[in-house]
Amino acid sequence: MSDDILDSIFEKAAAGQTLIKNRKTLTIDYVPERLPFRDDETGTIAQALSVVLKGARPSNLLLFGKPGTGKTAVVKNVTKRLLTKTSDLGIEVLMPFINAKTANTGYKVLYEIAENMGINKEEKKFHVHFTGLSMGEATDRILDFIKNKKKLHVILIIDEIDSLVDKNGDDILYNFTRANERIIGGFISLIGISNSLTFKDKLDPRVRSSLSEEEMVFNPYTIEQLQKILLNRAKVAFNEDCISNAAINLCAAIAGRENGDARRAIDLLRVAAEIAERERASKVEEKHIRLSQEKIEKDTNYEILKNSTTHTKILILAILKSKNGNTGEVYEIYSSFCRHIQQEPLTQRRITQIISELDQLGLIRSDVVSQGRYGRSQRIKVTIPSITITSALRDDQILSTLLFAD
Ligand SMILES: Nc1ncnc2c1ncn2[C@@H]1O[C@H](COP(=O)(O)OP(=O)(O)OP(=O)(O)O)[C@@H](O)[C@H]1O
Ligand SMILES: [Mg+2]
Repeated sequence: MSDDILDSIFEKAAAGQTLIKNRKTLTIDYVPERLPFRDDETGTIAQALSVVLKGARPSNLLLFGKPGTGKTAVVKNVTKRLLTKTSDLGIEVLMPFINAKTANTGYKVLYEIAENMGINKEEKKFHVHFTGLSMGEATDRILDFIKNKKKLHVILIIDEIDSLVDKNGDDILYNFTRANERIIGGFISLIGISNSLTFKDKLDPRVRSSLSEEEMVFNPYTIEQLQKILLNRAKVAFNEDCISNAAINLCAAIAGRENGDARRAIDLLRVAAEIAERERASKVEEKHIRLSQEKIEKDTNYEILKNSTTHTKILILAILKSKNGNTGEVYEIYSSFCRHIQQEPLTQRRITQIISELDQLGLIRSDVVSQGRYGRSQRIKVTIPSITITSALRDDQILSTLLFAD
């Protein structure tokens, strides 16, 4: 790209009116001080944790709810306020906040707990190194540290706790929920947050009963609630008169119809604002929300495709190539593609399973059509634009030969 073009992009951006006043408030890391429609949840959690101010151990808590229902935001707000209160009163409480999904492995969860609690800055014998200890040893060091402190109160928050159990089973949770038997003076309480409602079924009954001393479910937001949340957010995020009410309402309607997910609603708003700014529009309007929805969907499809297995990718290409989309033909093309790139094809049965998974993800659509006296047959069609497919598969060395084969 020539310097002139670059300069002109920057000049336009500098001269153009910005619609967004405070970009940070539209990012995922931003948690507003007040969370409308979550007063009950906030109150109940605050109540449960408040016993720590009198030196008692709060019950373990398990919080459930679909994505974007405010679980993380509520817990972050409550613990932040509680931490200010305890430090005012000189009560020694630590509230390590761990995200088990980003921590990735069980050991990494333990390492982050230790880091978060400042254990690695204390006496060497308690250190949990980045690698090198057994899980048992790492757990023991954390618990010994609490025991050694005599009066230390720990409220351990594990967000996306289901991901820890999926990868590591429930040993860590077992050890932490049982730990109070060996800590005298101090204690440890656990708050687990999960967006899988079936998470509890994966736990050993002993862990289940102690972890869920108290439980709470966060319900999805309604369209009206999302409207209010978006209006509040728009006030802090946008310059005056830079977004229409119709745009906010549409945004709330889309997110409300889907899952009642506030994150999705705010994402829609942010991407729409970026599109409107790029267009140098004076206001974010409904059409920008629609474009934003398309863009987000396209990006999600792209990510799913890019990260799927080789056979799923070959199958998608076969469906794309197929003329009438019936299962038999698709399987034949798929098998011939496999032979072409010297891969052993999966069984027809497995392919049928993958087809139904792809259908659920919305990447393809399979309809059963009647063929009169010949009975019924399945018709499969790819629902995403072929340009998304080619760009997602282009970098795959082996598959790119198929992309350009006829
Ligand atoms: N009541 C609310 N008012 C304002 N913003 C909210 C409210 N609830 C959620 N949000 C915002 O929506 C986004 C998602 O919320 P949060 O991260 O708490 O969801 P979650 O329930 O933890 O979802 P997940 O299960 O996917 O982790 C955040 O950016 C948060 O600031
Ligand atoms: Mg969360």
